Amino acid sequence: MARAASTFICQSCGAVHRRWQGKCDACGAWNTIAEESAAARPPSPGRSPRKGRLFALQSLAGEAQEAPRLSSGVAELDRVVGGGLVRGSVLLVGGDPGIGKSTLLVQVAAALAQAGERAVYISGEEAVAQVRLRADRLGLASAAVELAAETSVEDIVATLSEGRPPRLVVIDSIQTMWTNAVESAPGTVTQVRGATEALIRFAKRSGTAVILVGHVTKEGQIAGPRVIEHMVDAVLSFEGEGAHQFRILRAVKNRFGPTDEIGVFEMTGIGLCEVPNPSELFLSERDLGAPGTAVFAGIEGTRPLLVEIQALVAPSALGTPRRAVVGWDQSRLAMVLAVLEAHCGVRLGGHDVYLNVAGGLRIQEPAADLAAAAALVSSLAGAPLPADAVYFGEVSLSGAVRPVPQSAARLKEAAKLGFTRAIVPEAAREDPADPALALTTVGALAGLVAEIASPDEGRRRAEERRKVGR
Ligand code: TYD
Ligand code: MG
Repeated sequence: MARAASTFICQSCGAVHRRWQGKCDACGAWNTIAEESAAARPPSPGRSPRKGRLFALQSLAGEAQEAPRLSSGVAELDRVVGGGLVRGSVLLVGGDPGIGKSTLLVQVAAALAQAGERAVYISGEEAVAQVRLRADRLGLASAAVELAAETSVEDIVATLSEGRPPRLVVIDSIQTMWTNAVESAPGTVTQVRGATEALIRFAKRSGTAVILVGHVTKEGQIAGPRVIEHMVDAVLSFEGEGAHQFRILRAVKNRFGPTDEIGVFEMTGIGLCEVPNPSELFLSERDLGAPGTAVFAGIEGTRPLLVEIQALVAPSALGTPRRAVVGWDQSRLAMVLAVLEAHCGVRLGGHDVYLNVAGGLRIQEPAADLAAAAALVSSLAGAPLPADAVYFGEVSLSGAVRPVPQSAARLKEAAKLGFTRAIVPEAAREDPADPALALTTVGALAGLVAEIASPDEGRRRAEERRKVGR
């Protein structure tokens, strides 16, 4: 009889190989190839293959049940997941080691326990005493969180299935868990996947919300090759710059809510504090009057957020000048620089360019183009921008300043924080703005550049435009 054929499949990219090898030729990953049996189950002789069971198809217009949610007691986390933890859902929180994942989740478990819910915290990394010490530091030692240091998923599921099902189970971290169901060493992709599967089954069966902690590998992936991201209901990433106190919780995937909301926390001596008004925080350490800084009125999800964009343009000693960005997209910077060169007569070929978003925030909106361009020109010209002005607008390759969504919300936040001027795309004039805010519209980036580089020249141009009736 022929041997059952088996194939070797890369667990990272799914490429099929004929024999085992250490490195996958398709994606270049090491040690990701596993043997899988490819043989289909042979039909039993003398019996016709089983016919499928019939099931009723339903219409799209039926009643949809709102996912039952449970407030986690931490408003910023609720905001990111879309209004509270969903019962029976599994959430993965990823982040660099030391960023504060355990701290956040101890705080969440304690908040739920204090609200009278059953919350369980399973640590696979720290001893019970260590978790207690942390809780003590956070002032949460009296919270009725149920605690254990365990790593066997079967034991954990068996224990948790006793009695009243918990509302929240925190597993810290999924990489330390192992299951009997698969035969590989703890920490391997197969183990992590097997343990996650068992915990997902437990969550769905019991209606418990499960939060898994996942360490991010050096390449920035959770648990190696994104092995469990597709299995869980939501993936949150907890980020922050080492030197800053701010921590940002961001949804990467969310089956029950939006993925563009962020939660902002500050790491203090007594744990993570929520920051309900991040604009104030991000603008708190501005150096007023220095050239090269512009305030961008941005939107993160539904929340307006003002941040400072800092630029430094300096003559370069290198053959190929340096372009470095922190907190913004490298290719967007290249684009803005190209537009400045091509349409605004700004020569940057012999200059190093550095761009930084203050406070360790990462901006993804194209609306930041105008603020970045203003900061760059201000630095090059050595001319400070007005300290009471905010900027937003997308710059197109033709040099035109294009409208961006939600201008009204941006302007409102700027007025609330005491800004008196806004430099905006022309379309923003139609939006209702605070009377305390003077709007300056720019149709083309060249106009703004002239205005910053030589304010008199800019005024003359504006005058001319008015005379010609635009
Ligand atoms: P931790 O939650 O252990 O990180 P993770 O689980 O993501 O690895 O947090 C570790 C860091 O947080 C540690 O460097 C100390 C700091 N920290 C504070 O600043 N204040 C606190 O109250 C606590 C508990 C931790
Ligand atoms: Mg930890």
